[in-house]
Amino acid sequence: MFPEHRPRRLRTTPAMRRLVGETTLRPRQLILPMFVAEGIDAPRPISSMPGVVQHTRDTLRKAAVDAVNAGVGGLMLFGIPKTRDAEGSGAVDEKGILNVALRDLRHELGDATVLMADTCLDEFTDHGHCGVLDADGGVDNDATLRIYAQMAIAQVEAGAHVLGPSGMMDGQIGVIRRALDEVGHKDAAILAYAAKYASAFYGPFREAVDSQLKGDRKTYQQDPGNAREALREIELDLAEGADMVMVKPALSYLDVIKAAADISPVPVAAYNISGEYAMVEAAAANGWLDRERTVLEVLTSIRRAGADMILTYWAAEAAAWLD
Ligand code: PBG
Repeated sequence: MFPEHRPRRLRTTPAMRRLVGETTLRPRQLILPMFVAEGIDAPRPISSMPGVVQHTRDTLRKAAVDAVNAGVGGLMLFGIPKTRDAEGSGAVDEKGILNVALRDLRHELGDATVLMADTCLDEFTDHGHCGVLDADGGVDNDATLRIYAQMAIAQVEAGAHVLGPSGMMDGQIGVIRRALDEVGHKDAAILAYAAKYASAFYGPFREAVDSQLKGDRKTYQQDPGNAREALREIELDLAEGADMVMVKPALSYLDVIKAAADISPVPVAAYNISGEYAMVEAAAANGWLDRERTVLEVLTSIRRAGADMILTYWAAEAAAWLD
């Protein structure tokens, strides 16, 4: 008796495996998140994210050009201001670090890449929340929306092609879309962080942006156990005018990425976040994982789940490997 079916035939040689490969991973599908800090004169390492730094304006420019030359599809920028206040006013100020850096990069790169900006207040507020607070210390949804609208306009005027609202406020996509359209920025696109979970995996990011947060974001980010709720968030963002939708984090939420890909008429992004990066880097540094193979497997898995594009701190390096 011999097996009637032999799937191994299609695995016999590298050429055969290449021919029948189902999932592609290309540099253009990778977006590099980058950090720029105000008032520092040398890049500052982020200890929980080995290999990732807070850039100066100058090193940001150089690293951005290198990433674009490596073939990445886009850059996502986060700013770390020198001073913070309750309203996060550095976010709307045209001289605020994120807006200044966007201007630098747009000047340097023009339309050679897709320049994206984090449209969220948490880096700019002294309490570390993604919005402004009401009298009881809760995050005030609608007051925050008014600031997001101004922040979005400032970011587009500074050079962003795409805005990434990541604060999970209700109605944020609609308010930003209307605000942009009213002042004539009809071509600025919105990548909605549609399904964003209150995740422990953001830990290293909090170090990366010197976060002031005490407590958590559970009143606005989603409960990790909820999948149906993610579809509702995605549908609302689509109805409000999202040009692309994102699921975040990625690895613990591959089912959500798949569900989003099944229903979304627009491109789906996934954010392979700081904690996912840190886990692999820590294990690889100990010799417990083969770093390059693991990174490519992680990124391929996120693509297989249905993400059209991936935000990942490995974007530039992986793009170079894939090339
Ligand atoms: C909010 C924001 C966060 C991340 C991206 N945008 C942090 C948070 O919601 O707490 C996390 C990204 C990562 O962990 O890599 N501005």
